[in-house]
Amino acid sequence: MISGIGIDTIEVSRVAKEIAGSKGFKERYFSAGEIAYCEPKRGRARNYAARFAAKEAFFKALGTGYRGGLAFHEVEILNNVLGKPGIVLRGRTKALCRKYKIRGIHVSLTHIKDYSSAVVILEG
Ligand SMILES: CC(C)(COP(=O)(O)OP(=O)(O)OC[C@H]1O[C@@H](n2cnc3c(N)ncnc32)[C@H](O)[C@@H]1OP(=O)(O)O)[C@@H](O)C(=O)NCCC(=O)NCCS
Repeated sequence: MISGIGIDTIEVSRVAKEIAGSKGFKERYFSAGEIAYCEPKRGRARNYAARFAAKEAFFKALGTGYRGGLAFHEVEILNNVLGKPGIVLRGRTKALCRKYKIRGIHVSLTHIKDYSSAVVILEG
C-alpha cells in the first residue's frame, strides 16, 4: 500500500552557489557516498541538487518534514550498477520509518540545466 508521496524541485544555481561558497555545505547535507558519486560528474551541481530535492521529497512523503532531529544526512541517495537511485536511511530517520512500518522507498530523479527534481513514494 502506498503510504506517502513527496515531490521537490530545486534551482541548480542555488546549490552550485552553496557548493562553491559555503565551507562544509557538502559534508553537512551529503554522505561520503553521495559526494563520491557527484564529484566526478560534469555539471555536478545538478546531481547534488537532485539529491537535495530527494531528501526534501522524502521528508514530505513521511509527512513530518525534517523536524525533531531528523537530518538530511540520515537520508542517503545511492545509485545501483544500472544508475537507478535508491534511498538508504540511518539514525533517527531509520528508526522512525521502522516505527511507521514503512516497507519500501522508491525515488526517481531528473535534472535539466537549471532545475533538479525528485519524487519519493513510501510503501507501508
Ligand atoms: C536513465 C535515463 C532514463 C535517464 O534519463 P535522462 O533524461 O537521460 O536524464 P534525467 O535527468 O531525466 O535523469 C537522470 C537520473 O536518472 C536516474 N537513473 C539513471 N539510471 C537509471 C535507471 N536505470 N533506472 C532508474 N533511474 C535511473 C538517475 O537518478 C539520474 O540522476 P543521477 O545521476 O543524479 O542519479 C536514460 O539516460 C536511459 O535510459 N539511460 C540508459 C540508456 C543509456 O544510457 N543511453 C545512453 C544515452 S542514449
